[in-house]
Amino acid sequence: MSNDHDLRLVAPFSPTIIKATMPPAVVEALNARADAIVARQDEVAARDWSSHLAGAVSTEIRFTDVIGEMPDLTDFLYDVARTYSYRCENALMHFSDYQRTEELADKTLRIEIKEGWVNDMVAGDYNPAHFHQGCLYSSVGFLRIPEGYEREFRADKARQNTAGCLQFIDSRSAVGVKNLFTVKPVVGDFYLWPSWMLHCVYPFKSPGVRRSIAVNLALA
Ligand SMILES: [Fe+2]
Repeated sequence: MSNDHDLRLVAPFSPTIIKATMPPAVVEALNARADAIVARQDEVAARDWSSHLAGAVSTEIRFTDVIGEMPDLTDFLYDVARTYSYRCENALMHFSDYQRTEELADKTLRIEIKEGWVNDMVAGDYNPAHFHQGCLYSSVGFLRIPEGYEREFRADKARQNTAGCLQFIDSRSAVGVKNLFTVKPVVGDFYLWPSWMLHCVYPFKSPGVRRSIAVNLALA
């Protein structure tokens, strides 16, 4: 049978998520700054960002100024957001020819960091389904996982482990497309997605802190 039907998948509507790994030195520096801030009640109060956020989360502190003082972090954020923008555009223009990313070479796309904050969650905290406004992209990087979390995660329901997980929600199901995408927090793992996409974070029981940094971005 002839194989020349010129078959191509064209998926212009599915929201795409990009995953990256944060440089370990950036994770370390962020944890050091966050530890210094949460140790001081006055600093926590001054940076309290909870009234802007959906979560039932113990500590949510605004970090936008700190991010701006960390060039290794901002370079990382710009790289991921640029790559995401170009890959999504190329996928649409070239029908998933991901090799054609030559636009990355000149890096002319300007990314703006809108807001950033650090979430410290403890046992029982959760983040109900929500999306982010006033930006184009949202992102999260995992900075700390409670000791004992792995054991708790493995003991969760075998086929639906969600303890402490981030979950993305898109109800437009199709063949081969999930409507729930669950992400287990791993230190250093970083995800970026379209800001309108619904997501939530499930509670966990292990003692200790689950720390993440969230950053909203836009095209400048
Ligand atoms: Fe969120």
